[in-house]
Amino acid sequence: MKNDTDMNTKISERIRYVGVNDHEKVIFEGLWPLPFGVSYNSYLVIDEKIALIDTAEAAFSAEFLANVKRETRGRSVDYLIVNHMEPDHSSLISDIRDAYPDIKIVTNAKAVPMIKGYHGITDNILVIREGDTLPLGETSLSFHMIPMVHWPETMVTYLAEEKTLFSGDAFGTFGAVDGGIRDTEAHLCGWLDKSPDCFTEFSDEMTRYYSNIVGKYGQTVQAALKKLAGVEIERICSTHGPVWEKHVADVVARYDRLSRYEAERGVCIAYSTMYGNTAKAAKSLAAELAKRGVKYALHNLCTENLSYAYRDVFKYDTIAIGAPTYNNDIFPPAYTFMYGIGARLVKNRRFFAFGSYTWAGASVRLLDEMAKKQGFELISDGLSFPQGYSPEKCDMASVAELMSR
Ligand SMILES: Cc1cc2nc3c(=O)[nH]c(=O)nc-3n(C[C@H](O)[C@H](O)[C@H](O)COP(=O)(O)O)c2cc1C
Ligand SMILES: [Fe+2]
Ligand SMILES: [Fe+2]
Repeated sequence: MKNDTDMNTKISERIRYVGVNDHEKVIFEGLWPLPFGVSYNSYLVIDEKIALIDTAEAAFSAEFLANVKRETRGRSVDYLIVNHMEPDHSSLISDIRDAYPDIKIVTNAKAVPMIKGYHGITDNILVIREGDTLPLGETSLSFHMIPMVHWPETMVTYLAEEKTLFSGDAFGTFGAVDGGIRDTEAHLCGWLDKSPDCFTEFSDEMTRYYSNIVGKYGQTVQAALKKLAGVEIERICSTHGPVWEKHVADVVARYDRLSRYEAERGVCIAYSTMYGNTAKAAKSLAAELAKRGVKYALHNLCTENLSYAYRDVFKYDTIAIGAPTYNNDIFPPAYTFMYGIGARLVKNRRFFAFGSYTWAGASVRLLDEMAKKQGFELISDGLSFPQGYSPEKCDMASVAELMSR
């Protein structure tokens, strides 16, 4: 059956997509830009009983309820499985209860006070524990706790008969999925003619989603991956982005790599500047890396949302931060960025700092101190240069040479 936008919502005989695509929101979680939109995925498992897995963002109540109504064809919904209480998936719990007053909420004990706190709901909740199963008829759902991926109440739901994991935010990605939800049909907006492969298209947006939102929780993601290693998975239905069928192994490998903080050889150059001198040094480093065939990304932290530079910190094994000295300190955009890298517990990176000052440099020394605390290996002592940039004052060729090794 098709929805208003003619998207194919049938994932299998029993599983239907009832999520929505958001092209309105500019900034997700009040922080992260959405150049390709985002989807809030929700699924129905239709058997003798019907289970709805997660809901959607508050603004999409009417569209979401219409999707559920259309796909259930007049039947009632028996269970609402709450995998995760972040409001992008839980906002419509009250609306669903109003539409289906007999619905039973199925979740774990940690979500119960959150449901009360956000919705005032305390009744008709079935509290399940690790490994419990919920029979639906021919099929049944089972539940695994994956705490702190990325909230404490987070769990995943498994439909063994279809080897399908409803994974919550895990394996999710930014980017709406209007064309079709399965990874054999899905395309990131406007990418259809650029790449025929869904995983390649969503690759950067997945890394950005992970680095921005889940980044701090490498250890708990690793624990979750180990727990799920024994579960046979042929399909992943996450809460954001495509349903993974063809690319299950690719997305699991990507999450494994990211949560180990493994990165490819390359340099994330993130600079900040007031009058352009530190910017010139950053661009000189980029040019010297290019000459040596070293991959790099160049980000201006003053004009860009930090989201993209965080992505490339997770992508590349070397971080180069440029910051002028400002009130005897690190220029604030670079400090914020470096603080965010620390907050994400980023490991195993090579580091290099540079920046201009006028009367007494401090930023480079302070950045180096932060990097050492983080356990990063310094490529060399940072380059702090007075006033205007010149290759003599700030020899990026030698730095690039070290980075290329
Ligand atoms: C508000 C403000 C505070 C500054 N504080 C310092 C400082 O504490 N020590 C210093 O040596 N230079 C300081 N500077 C000078 C800058 O570091 C200098 O202009 C530098 O060249 C700017 O680099 P940019 O061209 O990359 O912005 C300050 C500049 C401004 C505007
Ligand atoms: Fe979340
Ligand atoms: Fe989410």
